[in-house]
Amino acid sequence: MSTRMNEPFDPKVPGEDTPFDVSLRPPDFSDFHGQDKVKERLVLMVEAAKRRGDVLEHVLLSGPPGLGKTTLANIIAKATGTNLHTTSGPQIEKAGDLAGILTNLQKGDLLFIDEIHRLHPAIEEYLYPAMEDYRLDIIIDSGPSARSIQLNLPKFTLVAATTRAGKLTAPLRSRFGLVNRLDYYTSSELAHILQRSAELINIPIDQEGATEIAMRSRGTPRIANNLLRWVRDYAQVKAEGSITGPIAADALHMIEIDDDGLDEMDKRLLEALIFKFQGGPCGLKTLATALGEDESTLEEVHEPFLIMQGFLKRTPRGRVAMPPAYQKIGAPLPKSDGQAGLFD
Ligand SMILES: Nc1ncnc2c1ncn2[C@@H]1O[C@H](COP(=O)(O)OP(=O)(O)OP(=O)(O)O)[C@@H](O)[C@H]1O
Ligand SMILES: [Mg+2]
Repeated sequence: MSTRMNEPFDPKVPGEDTPFDVSLRPPDFSDFHGQDKVKERLVLMVEAAKRRGDVLEHVLLSGPPGLGKTTLANIIAKATGTNLHTTSGPQIEKAGDLAGILTNLQKGDLLFIDEIHRLHPAIEEYLYPAMEDYRLDIIIDSGPSARSIQLNLPKFTLVAATTRAGKLTAPLRSRFGLVNRLDYYTSSELAHILQRSAELINIPIDQEGATEIAMRSRGTPRIANNLLRWVRDYAQVKAEGSITGPIAADALHMIEIDDDGLDEMDKRLLEALIFKFQGGPCGLKTLATALGEDESTLEEVHEPFLIMQGFLKRTPRGRVAMPPAYQKIGAPLPKSDGQAGLFD
């Protein structure tokens, strides 16, 4: 946290919530705007469990960073009136860690495992009977004296989040009743979220101001809130302390966020693909090396948005730049050289 202050402004530092973020986290379903289908299902599940006096089914939330997975886990815990225990895949290093967490749960408690795709496969297997039969089979001792003992667990709910649903093993995935996939938000949904955030941090904002920020937020509330923080600073220093369309545009121009919300790395990615690799297809590893960026950051943070916006395509042979990418960076479209289907 303290080091972030000295780093260049990056509105989409993944996986990390600033205190600003936390205070803006909607506490209830009614404050959580967007993701209507997912929300509707969750509200229904919570209601049904309450009526039966039963424990909620396990819930999987998937989708790119900053769309509201952690927020929803908190909302579910509040709505069911249960205790929330939070951990994450990489934090559970040994089977014993998981056993410790599970045996500490009380009936009805909610266990939130973030980044569940990063759970060690050997540990994942302990989770299967725990999820299905509320039972933990652990092996104590080793060698000839090794024996397996069974512990009964209280009935609990696992809420798991992942940015990589495709990476979950089939057995794990099938133990969740529903896979709830969060999608990028529309600009009007983000504008609505921004209005609420602005009210919470006491900065006046008009509809154009909210729309201007929303359009450049890559469909992501975390980014929208981070950009709002920057625009607020700008408005307070350079303007009358309220956010209008032109003020938001000037403020965002100053940090080089372009009209489509593409940032420095997005543009570098498209440039590398077009200029260094003739528009692709180019493998992820090669692209990551060329950019000096981590493969998973490219794959989880940058690519989904570029793909959604039609700048990029993933093909079995690698990444391909699509016509809007050429337009965006001002490069001529490659002439067809008989290689049919480049952009299909
Ligand atoms: N639907 C929403 N309405 C209002 N604010 C939202 C909504 N969804 C997310 N936010 C805001 O965005 C921030 C980021 O959301 P959250 O931490 O839940 O994302 P996440 O999906 O868990 O991301 P990660 O994969 O990086 O952990 C929240 O702190 C909250 O302020
Ligand atoms: Mg999260």
